[in-house]
Amino acid sequence: VNGKVEIPVVFNVLYRTTAENISLSQLQSQIDVLNKDFNAANSDYNTANNPYSSVRANVGISFVLDQVIRKSTTKSSWGTRDAMKKTKQGGLDPTSPTTKLNFWVCTIGGGILGYAQFPGGSSATDGVVCDSKYVGVTSNSGSSYPYNLGRTATHEVGHWMNLRHIWGDATCGSDLVADTPVHNTANYGVPPVGHRSTCTGTPLEMYMNYMDYTDDRGMYMFSLGQKSRMDAIFVSGGARYSFGQ
Ligand code: ARG
Ligand code: ZN
Ligand code: CA
Repeated sequence: VNGKVEIPVVFNVLYRTTAENISLSQLQSQIDVLNKDFNAANSDYNTANNPYSSVRANVGISFVLDQVIRKSTTKSSWGTRDAMKKTKQGGLDPTSPTTKLNFWVCTIGGGILGYAQFPGGSSATDGVVCDSKYVGVTSNSGSSYPYNLGRTATHEVGHWMNLRHIWGDATCGSDLVADTPVHNTANYGVPPVGHRSTCTGTPLEMYMNYMDYTDDRGMYMFSLGQKSRMDAIFVSGGARYSFGQ
């Protein structure tokens, strides 16, 4: 991106319990994680023994907390069919979705941490959904561990900026990015240094990439190829050009 892209973020918080009505400082901690992860300012960016350090990227996109909208509800889980994005279904319609990134913070259910809409979809449902439990940074001894470092939002914003899962959602599939290696499938936990794919060429897997399913403490980079793919949506003709102005 040539001009600096700074994305205003609207948090739509839907809560039944007080725990779901997460605090402003918790939301701000999520903004801080996004700013670090997208600007190569995360403390684990320089983790030793990263075989992919030469393709690590400073994406150079920043985020600013624009507003927080809170709504009390009686729903205990919202699922993955966008009900939380619709005032008529008890949720909250997005605010200015062509110029602001809307987050819905609620209990999703079914073990889902978050989900996002790719560029090019309807603006009425555009944005990122993140389960209340996994927004922002919480303690390593709490119940959100190992997804307690705000990386669910980093991963989902990656999708919102057109990134695919690193394994291409298929065995040895493609993520349409040249500098990320082919993976057998998703990685969970924190794989050992030297972990290889059994796909063609048996490359070292880039399990430290935000677009894998590794634990929050095990993911710490986007690649240069992923950065180009994200940059492309903010230029003239790109699906999120309206955010780059
Ligand atoms: N399962 C979610 C998705 O496919 C997010 C996974 C996030 N991983 C994490 N370590 N926080 O979009
Ligand atoms: Zn994903
Ligand atoms: Ca690839």
